[in-house]
Amino acid sequence: MMAVKSAAVLAFSCLIAPFFFSGADAGGIAIYWGQNGNEGTLAATCATGNYNFVNIAFLVTFGNGQTPMINLAGHCDPSGNGCSGLSSDIQSCQANGIKVILSIGGGAGNYSLSSADDAKQVAAYLWNNFLGGQSSNRPLGDAVLDGIDFDIELGTNLHWDDLAMYLSQYSNQGQKVYLTAAPQCPFPDTWLGDALKTGLFDYVWVQFFNNPPCQYTSGNTTNLVNAWNQWTQDIQATQIFLGLPASPEAAGSGFIPVNDLTSQVLPAIKGDSKYGGVMLWSKYYDDQTGYSSSIKAAGIANARNKFVKVVIREAQGKVQRLKLTAPQSQNSESTAPRLQRSELIAPQSQNSELTTPQLFAESNGLSSRYRNAESGQERNPVNCAINGNGIIKIYKYV
Ligand SMILES: *[C@@H]1O[C@H](CO)[C@@H](O)[C@H](O)[C@H]1NC(C)=O
Ligand SMILES: *[C@@H]1O[C@H](CO)[C@@H](O)[C@H](O)[C@H]1NC(C)=O
Repeated sequence: MMAVKSAAVLAFSCLIAPFFFSGADAGGIAIYWGQNGNEGTLAATCATGNYNFVNIAFLVTFGNGQTPMINLAGHCDPSGNGCSGLSSDIQSCQANGIKVILSIGGGAGNYSLSSADDAKQVAAYLWNNFLGGQSSNRPLGDAVLDGIDFDIELGTNLHWDDLAMYLSQYSNQGQKVYLTAAPQCPFPDTWLGDALKTGLFDYVWVQFFNNPPCQYTSGNTTNLVNAWNQWTQDIQATQIFLGLPASPEAAGSGFIPVNDLTSQVLPAIKGDSKYGGVMLWSKYYDDQTGYSSSIKAAGIANARNKFVKVVIREAQGKVQRLKLTAPQSQNSESTAPRLQRSELIAPQSQNSELTTPQLFAESNGLSSRYRNAESGQERNPVNCAINGNGIIKIYKYV
């Protein structure tokens, strides 16, 4: 009787703060897609639910007066507009909150910028053909991509800062143009060093592979962590990602077994305020190993991204302990420990969503003991579920 009564009196709700999963706060796993025809479609890639960013790789030819050209391996033939059908895939990804970005450059290609004016023309080309501008011959159709990724690995190091500046100016025309970059871990990056100094990049996924002096070697995080610290201290970016090969075959060196990643490497870097998550090369290799799924199951890469802000509405000062669980699927109550941390926010009054962080909980995915930071009082549990889309629901009072 008592329980029934209190359930009726207490008004709980678990609400996602509006900024959760949106805009610049997003993080998680970034994947490269496009360089292997056997890696599934773009739509299927996004439908895995494992990725927050998909970099379409690559625009391989541009600059220096050349006619720009994409190369998407066996996925489609860009000549004769054969890749414009990707628009619907891009839009379905975006409808699921995934940012879809065009990656320019790559390890093989023919690209360089001959002058600041050349950079300006390439920026205009990208705007008109992939972003919010207009062109009669858009290679990926009408879909408006979220931004441009700089994966510059050859040519010269000149004018990439100009390109970043010109591209960033298009953000003034409405939708933000995200700028991302994939430098290699030796600091500063040979090709992108100057461009990164502009501070114009939102997400920088540093390739911690193919470079033994700054990558993980079996059981030893020293080199990687030293390089990570330099990147996060010296580069102004919204978030820095740990870029890794998704399988041993995906790179010459630098593959990290997922257990080492979750037990040694991520714990050493994820506390950094700029830590955004993990970038993987590439979807094809991720399919071979299930790397992104393993990271997600361990719940660490996304700890920041999945930092769930829960509003607890108190009735009569009786906030109860909240049990947070992350189900495997939307319909199960599986206890997979995906959620590592949760911040519980107690509103000042019953109807506000004030974000004073009075309550804090560490979740092991099974239950979260938490206490009121002011009173130190422990609370009784309420069960909440977080589904694959990050939606929290209370499904049971206990
Ligand atoms: C790259 O482009 C330049 C300028 O258009 C051209 O001279 C050169 O032959 C090209 N190289 C390759 C490998 O296609
Ligand atoms: C880890 O690697 C660093 C750099 O190569 C080295 O100085 C250090 O001795 C290694 N630590 C261990 C425990 O092997």
